[in-house]
Amino acid sequence: MLSLAYWVHMYKEWRLTKNYLIIGPLAYIMLQEFYIFVTELAHLCSERTAASMSATRLLHCDGKGTNNKSSSNRMAYEVFLGGSCNPTTWRSEIAIPTLQRLGITYYNPQVSHWGPELIAQEYEAKQTAKVLLFVIDNQTRNSAGIIEAAQLAATRRESLILVIYPYRQGQTILDETVSIQEYCDLMNGLLVLQYLMERQRIPIFESVSIALNCTSKVLREEIHVQDLHADDGIRPIKISFGQNGMDLLMLREIFRSMDINDNGTVNLEEAWIALQSSVKCNVSSMPELLSVVNKSEAYRTLIDDGFLAKKDPTELRINFEQFCALAMESAWRVKSNGVSCENWTNFFVPESEKRDLYVGVIGKDQFWLETTAIPSIESSGLSLYRSSLNEYNVKVLPQELQRMKNSRLILLIVPQHSRGITIMALAAHLIGLRAKLVLCVQTLPEDCLVSGEKLTEQAVKDYNRGRMYLSDYATREGVPVFQNIADALQHAIQLVQHLC
Ligand SMILES: *[C@@H]1O[C@H](CO)[C@@H](O)[C@H](O)[C@H]1NC(C)=O
Ligand SMILES: *[C@@H]1O[C@H](CO)[C@@H](O)[C@H](O)[C@H]1NC(C)=O
Ligand SMILES: *[C@@H]1O[C@H](CO)[C@@H](O)[C@H](O)[C@H]1NC(C)=O
Ligand SMILES: *[C@@H]1O[C@H](CO)[C@@H](O)[C@H](O)[C@H]1NC(C)=O
Ligand SMILES: *[C@@H]1O[C@H](CO)[C@@H](O)[C@H](O)[C@H]1NC(C)=O
Ligand SMILES: *[C@@H]1O[C@H](CO)[C@@H](O)[C@H](O)[C@H]1NC(C)=O
Ligand SMILES: *[C@@H]1O[C@H](CO)[C@@H](O)[C@H](O)[C@H]1NC(C)=O
Repeated sequence: MLSLAYWVHMYKEWRLTKNYLIIGPLAYIMLQEFYIFVTELAHLCSERTAASMSATRLLHCDGKGTNNKSSSNRMAYEVFLGGSCNPTTWRSEIAIPTLQRLGITYYNPQVSHWGPELIAQEYEAKQTAKVLLFVIDNQTRNSAGIIEAAQLAATRRESLILVIYPYRQGQTILDETVSIQEYCDLMNGLLVLQYLMERQRIPIFESVSIALNCTSKVLREEIHVQDLHADDGIRPIKISFGQNGMDLLMLREIFRSMDINDNGTVNLEEAWIALQSSVKCNVSSMPELLSVVNKSEAYRTLIDDGFLAKKDPTELRINFEQFCALAMESAWRVKSNGVSCENWTNFFVPESEKRDLYVGVIGKDQFWLETTAIPSIESSGLSLYRSSLNEYNVKVLPQELQRMKNSRLILLIVPQHSRGITIMALAAHLIGLRAKLVLCVQTLPEDCLVSGEKLTEQAVKDYNRGRMYLSDYATREGVPVFQNIADALQHAIQLVQHLC
């Protein structure tokens, strides 16, 4: 009888060469059977050996090992190649040759003959892949791609490797010139995606080849994407404060929103809570907070001011400078912690900040909100946060996300008078975070006008593809989706009345 060591050795050899992708389907299946066999053996041996760990990681199988198509579908690929498809060629020209050279297995959803039978296979491959390599390329509108990336930033934060090729003013997409207005909408979508990624500490790459290098590193060293460094070529985070997606503007806004009397001071404890929700940490008790402050610059400033010792700690107030020091401290803690805790199901909300509903509308729907929705919500005895926005962008998002978090239910309207890229990305991200949500998703009509600009047939199709993607995803996750805005509001009101 052959020893287990022999099989493990063989397994490692073959895993290294990983040549089944080039040796044809029959040999591929034989090899796969072999992998399954080795996996079983490795299981018998010890769960702790490196061989067994890489074996179970490579395979996602039930061990039956039947020689038919459905068993070959159970293969787990290491990398899923998602994002922009036609007319882009990043998969065939860069990603696939490189992955083959490195002996890394991949699933390519861009096939010449796509059929519905591939849906399940694609889904399985995405679920089980160790790395999701997504490219948002400037040759397409990426209307589903941006939404999916925002969703994965919430659900697969440790495995998402995202490359973004930003748009350029005056460029064309599929031979159509992109108007200034559409350019701004697309870029705003990318910026918001970048912001949502930063909140999860997911790096963004500027080139597929650097992303492939990091893919290989993540697989080889079994690390999370959050563990990658600047040396690995990750793009410097643009909106940055202590490497944590916080900038002065944002801090200024948080501070101002808390400084109700406008006298330049905020409550220390409340400040910490606000910062926590912005930078995702989980320190909450007062003694713990004091010990944090105690170790920080902020503490020293407080000492110098001489009021830390004499007052009840819960009444301590700090100025903007101290607030910034506190933010720096909390950002550093999150960073050194390595744990992000964007948790929408378990967090503390001060009573005064709590609302029943958050209603998110953009553009023209603000009129509907003021004249129809608000009276209806208030007459039902419910409290609300409302966005009065023309569009969600990175400037308002920190505050809006906090308001959403403080609400028992969020109602978002994806309208038929806007491309809606950003609000769709936001909705997908919230679904991924398991926020309590009701959606109204309106399809763009054929002769759609956005701010007086007529969309081309191709653009309408693209943006409706995004709407379809979002509706499907929401429905799968049990989030109610309506086309009619009044129905959505009605449902949201009923739902929140029945939430305890
Ligand atoms: C493949 O095997 C599974 C389970 O062993 C079986 O249920 C299925 O019908 C088979 N499929 C085909 C196409 O033979
Ligand atoms: C798309 O992005 C790439 C990479 O940043 C850049 O080289 C190219 O010029 C851009 N294409 C257009 C049409 O802007
Ligand atoms: C990828 O990594 C290899 C070795 O780690 C390095 O030589 C190469 O320059 C890297 N490529 C890019 C595009 O960073
Ligand atoms: C500023 O206003 C707060 C109430 O919001 C109050 O508690 C605090 O004492 C005020 N500070 C100063 C310096 O006036
Ligand atoms: C924060 O959460 C992490 C992971 O859940 C945990 O390890 C850590 O102890 C928590 N920190 C505090 C201060 O509660
Ligand atoms: C600050 O921390 C030190 C030890 O780390 C402790 O001795 C001191 O009492 C703390 N001060 C306050 C005000 O909590
Ligand atoms: C959020 O907190 C809840 C309750 O403590 C916990 O069950 C859940 O796993 C947490 N979610 C995340 C993403 O950490």
